[in-house]
Amino acid sequence: ESRKKRARALAANRDAARFYHEYLKSPGGARVRDYIAQRQITPRTATRFGLGAAPDQWDGLIRALSEQGYTKLELIEAGLAVAGKNGGVYDKFRSRLMLPVIDVRGEVTGFTSRILPGEEGAKYLNTPETAVFKKGRLIYALNFAKSTKRPNLVLVEGNIDVITLHQAGFDNVVATMGTALTEEHARILARYTRELVLCYDNDPAGKKSTDRVLGILRNADLNVRVLQLPNAYDAAGNPLKQDPDDFVKKFGPAAFEKCLSGSAGQNDYKLDTLQQRHDLSDEEGRLAFLREAVETVASLRSPIEREIYGNKAAAAAGVSAEAMAQEVKRELARRM
Ligand code: GTP
Ligand code: MN
Ligand code: MN
Ligand code: MN
Ligand code: MN
Repeated sequence: ESRKKRARALAANRDAARFYHEYLKSPGGARVRDYIAQRQITPRTATRFGLGAAPDQWDGLIRALSEQGYTKLELIEAGLAVAGKNGGVYDKFRSRLMLPVIDVRGEVTGFTSRILPGEEGAKYLNTPETAVFKKGRLIYALNFAKSTKRPNLVLVEGNIDVITLHQAGFDNVVATMGTALTEEHARILARYTRELVLCYDNDPAGKKSTDRVLGILRNADLNVRVLQLPNAYDAAGNPLKQDPDDFVKKFGPAAFEKCLSGSAGQNDYKLDTLQQRHDLSDEEGRLAFLREAVETVASLRSPIEREIYGNKAAAAAGVSAEAMAQEVKRELARRM
């Protein structure tokens, strides 16, 4: 029974993706087509990712899929329609850019969607959890990235970041649905690659997510690196938010390639961010840095890593490697 329901929900989502994609090419899809062009996504890329347009109507999809034999209840269970308070049923997605979320087997499990410029509402709206749309294990674009010839996978925040980077030749880029990476995501990723490069937005939210994800990835069987996009500033010198999509459009694929090959190992990244948080030209700052660095280094599993990164932290703070090693040893004893 539940198998039948799953199959039905997958069929409805596949047919919905066809409907939205066809609608994109119709006169009603003009606004979304313009927006896609404005984001510099080519028609070829739009087709590859199955992009579509949801009509500016309350029941455009419901009418089309009802004709194909789906009941309203099936459409609600597939996450494509919602029941209103007065007993009516209407389309979940209206007047939006539609991005099908395709699982690694190539099945359309649901959608993420973006609001068009000038409209009110949530910027991104996703399919709710259904029998087939499980945010905790879906990885966007893994259906493409699983066959990359590149030596790693790159994890970014946004679905549009994924699309722009694939278009720029980086067919190893994936995203979770939102930034909440789970241990299950990590296990799945580890099946497809040895190395994962985190490339979240270069803003406070992205940095916070990076730290949280590094914690989750501690137990994963993955070599982890962090690609920090360089800071960008406006004419007045204020920092600008910069994500991979912005970056690759501004500076091109070769510049991103350079960032990718220069990405730091996760331990260097941790020490770098610690260094940035403290003023090492000042004694108090150096001590505060060292206290945190001792904890970071003591958390490393291998004695070789503890020696390498202990020495780096010591050098950065201008103390002897021996003193640092002693502190790390004390911290480890304390944790026993
Ligand atoms: P663009 O303007 O399309 O480039 O988006 P952005 O770069 O500002 O997106 P942001 O970095 O804020 O978000 C990246 C990802 O976070 C999106 O792809 C979504 O998955 C998720 N996200 C962002 N805003 C929302 C929101 O309003 N609702 C939900 N559910 N998710 C969001
Ligand atoms: Mn945002
Ligand atoms: Mn962001
Ligand atoms: Mn963006
Ligand atoms: Mn972003």
